Amino acid sequence: MSNIERVHYLMSLLKVSLMAYKINEELIEKIKDTVNIVELVSRYVNLKPSGSNYVGLCPFHNEKTPSFTVSESKNLFHCFGCGEGGDLISFVMKIENLSFVESVKLLADMYNIPLETYDKTFNEEIKKEKDILYKINKEAALFYIYKLRKTPKALEYLRGRNIDHNTISKFGLGYAPNSWNEIYDYLKSKGYQDSDIEKAGLINRRKDNTGYYDKFRNRIIFPIIDNRNRIVGFGGRILGEGKPKYLNSPDTIIFEKGKNLYGINLVHKMSNREKIILVEGYMDVISLFACGITYSVASLGTAFTQDQAKLLKRYGKNIYICYDSDNAGIKAALKALDILEKEEVKAKVIVLPGGLDPDDFIREKGLDEFKRLEENALNSIDFKLYILKKKYNLDKLEEKIKFTKEAAKLLKILSSPIERDVYIDRISKETNISKEAIGREVFGNSYKSNTRIYKDKYINGKNRYNKNKILPVKAVLEPAHLKAEKNLLKLMIQNVDYYKRIKRSLDREDFFNYECKNLVNIIYDEYENNPGLTKLSIGLIINKLEDKDDIDYEIIDEIFNIDIVTEDINKLIEDSINTVNYFKLKIERESLANKIKELDLKKEKKKEDVEELRSLCIRLTELDKELKTHMQRLGKEGT
Ligand code: CTP
Ligand code: MN
Repeated sequence: MSNIERVHYLMSLLKVSLMAYKINEELIEKIKDTVNIVELVSRYVNLKPSGSNYVGLCPFHNEKTPSFTVSESKNLFHCFGCGEGGDLISFVMKIENLSFVESVKLLADMYNIPLETYDKTFNEEIKKEKDILYKINKEAALFYIYKLRKTPKALEYLRGRNIDHNTISKFGLGYAPNSWNEIYDYLKSKGYQDSDIEKAGLINRRKDNTGYYDKFRNRIIFPIIDNRNRIVGFGGRILGEGKPKYLNSPDTIIFEKGKNLYGINLVHKMSNREKIILVEGYMDVISLFACGITYSVASLGTAFTQDQAKLLKRYGKNIYICYDSDNAGIKAALKALDILEKEEVKAKVIVLPGGLDPDDFIREKGLDEFKRLEENALNSIDFKLYILKKKYNLDKLEEKIKFTKEAAKLLKILSSPIERDVYIDRISKETNISKEAIGREVFGNSYKSNTRIYKDKYINGKNRYNKNKILPVKAVLEPAHLKAEKNLLKLMIQNVDYYKRIKRSLDREDFFNYECKNLVNIIYDEYENNPGLTKLSIGLIINKLEDKDDIDYEIIDEIFNIDIVTEDINKLIEDSINTVNYFKLKIERESLANKIKELDLKKEKKKEDVEELRSLCIRLTELDKELKTHMQRLGKEGT
């Protein structure tokens, strides 16, 4: 929001705040779900990542070194300097000097959260109505639990499915008797109205309008409990065979299927939020839980929704999809991957063997086997390749070609050339089609295989590869300098204009790192030889690097993957060029100093030696001056 906008906004708030506004919990929850605290605080404070948090200069007291910390995962801020801290609402209260209600309204406005949606819940009557439904549901759940205890065949059924008493009570499982009116009569006897029991979705109106009948009959009952521990609805599974196998509460004013996940209440209580598994069914969640996997949830008789994806993201750093291993399950998993991708979540898929669902699997194979599958979960590309492989018969030439073409399409979205090469290698092995041919499908005609190099340096040698081994070049390089070279290269690859700007200040020889030198040669050559180019393709660069087998591809890969985030790209370029030049001068000074020492040590100096010594010393003085200017520009202390 610009300053003007803010003033206008605050003025309008003045009017609003005259009204006695009640802010309801749902709105607050919605705000906390919608607003990313790091993004919000960044509007006021310049934040930098630091470990798992962000830090910056505290806006609430004067400081020179940042002690103001924001935790994205906890949705909190805290200043270790002045002790100020809280959630995003208290941040706005403090920084905008507003009341709680005003801050909530401001946030809703900033993030386009329509207050009208919540207006209805400002309404006392609706709140009352909701409370009645929660109460009815709780009462009903207790009734079903009681009935389960009294119904041996229902207990038998659950025991037959390996569900022990502890699990039954953890999930509050119950049994709806095979009767048309027991829950109705029971709730009536507790004083609830027909209309409210109907609104809760527990009874249906008779067709002839002569009254009501129980919705759930002869079913195992699964109460659906939200993350605030309220029973919002029910699922019911027929005891034995029968149709429909599952029946769910309809959507009500307290239950929207697409916005809840079965099991979220337990995950909320028990999980450290490291991971969460999405499964298809109630029984999958329960079986996994009984075996020790306490972090799975299921969507509720509907396809997985965007809202559910948001909920999942809140509850698991790593998200796994473990759907039934039939065709429907595979299709649904692909869809879920897409939906999660929209939330910028890279989920993995746990693939179960031969038609099993998680419930079947863990019962047959046990926890360890399941954990093993979890460890081997496939990322989205691997999963898609796996599906393709199942789709085609690779023994047939024609199908093999189709498979390879489709697989190549998948690889195009990979941004890391190393990753692409790994996959190309794998597909090549799978199909016996040459890496070159597959590579051309992916990169276009310029592709030549680099796998030999990658493999030796990177893939096969991954375990042998020693990250700490010090290359001769790396040993003398300052990290800042290497970083500067890398940034400049990345920028030049991205855009010919940056190339032009950088080339005015730096020659090829100015790049010091071996890999960077190689890249800069390719970049300068390409732009010089192809005046129309606006940027360079990574495929082409890799292709050009191919004949050099002493390249450290880890560095190349790092360069390709640099994410340049800056508000002022010109400043970044200037700074980087300065850093490179500063380093160049330092190297020159070092060799100059060595030469001087050498000459000085000579016992009998010739006239030329004295001459040279003199001019070297002059150059040294010049260099020191230049270095000093650079140091000042870079804000460094003298070395
Ligand atoms: N489902 C539903 N209505 C149906 C069938 C299924 O709402 N008629 C939902 C339920 O939430 C169920 C999930 O889809 O838990 C998975 O269904 P399915 O795979 O058919 O059942 P299972 O979980 O294998 O059930 P069970 O093991 O009890 O046979
Ligand atoms: Mn099942």
